[in-house]
Amino acid sequence: MQIVTSVTAMQRLAKGWKRRGVAVGFVPTLGYLHQGHLNLVRKARQQVGPRGAVVVSIYVNPTQFGPTEDFAGYPRDLAGDRKLCSDTGVDAVFAPQDRQVYWSRAGAGFSTFVVEESLSRGMEGASRPGHFRGVTTVVAKLFNIVQPDIAVFGAKDWQQAAVVKRMVRDLNFPVKIVLAPTVREADGLALSSRNKYLSLDEREQAVALWQAIQQARHSVRNSKRPIPASRLKSELKWLIETRPAARVDYLEFFDPQTLQPAAAVKRGAHLALAVYVGKTRLIDNGRV
Ligand code: PAJ
Repeated sequence: MQIVTSVTAMQRLAKGWKRRGVAVGFVPTLGYLHQGHLNLVRKARQQVGPRGAVVVSIYVNPTQFGPTEDFAGYPRDLAGDRKLCSDTGVDAVFAPQDRQVYWSRAGAGFSTFVVEESLSRGMEGASRPGHFRGVTTVVAKLFNIVQPDIAVFGAKDWQQAAVVKRMVRDLNFPVKIVLAPTVREADGLALSSRNKYLSLDEREQAVALWQAIQQARHSVRNSKRPIPASRLKSELKWLIETRPAARVDYLEFFDPQTLQPAAAVKRGAHLALAVYVGKTRLIDNGRV
């Protein structure tokens, strides 16, 4: 497995693969890898086959974090990540430095951004202004550097995957976006690098997100007619906030394809939610 830390070296590698007709599968990450990420790696391998190349990028992208968010404290473990990637059959890890990506640490001299203006407006976009601008910009840059044929994203970040798909379509990136299902702990908590922030007590309460999805599913499947979203949302908010450390940031029912909010909830709708458990902000989503 190769470790690539410069943009030019990554581009050279990508060019060589292209010349030899090697299919490239790509998994962009912020690092601190877990089984959710590694499942995307396995999916990428399935897509490109044994003779293809699988690239994982590990880069804590500063432009997608708000000024009061956890950029500086975001968990990092490059040595551990390298081992996991190598054990999972990754061909190259691309782990650039900030100055490689944005020219300088503070980003002075960098002034071109990619902005998706529709699907990125609600939910995470409303709650984290500028977040998706950072995501689409870095993903566009990474696609230009790695030149993948396919890229795998997790259903855990449903809105992110939808925004990236739209960007790829709108800007004609020759990349196929593949989605992989959310990997969960035994009790239903979605794996996330941010789970590391949770105390033991908070970790127990964090199962509230998954329970809310299941409760919504149960309600919808036991109702003969669509349920007003406002009613279901306030019931779920109440259910979540019975746990002392949990505070709902948002709950939204929406069409999984268009991301349009649903006023009445029926089977097939999607629920996405963001919940603070203590100081840690967790997100999850699922079909109801
Ligand atoms: P990160 O949060 O590291 O996630 C990288 C990829 O792993 C995303 O596609 C995410 O949806 C997927 N993922 C995370 N947890 C998962 C889980 N439990 N099950 C399945 N997939 C999971 O998302 C980002 O990084 C960044 O925004 C990035 C796309 C890398 C741009 O900087």
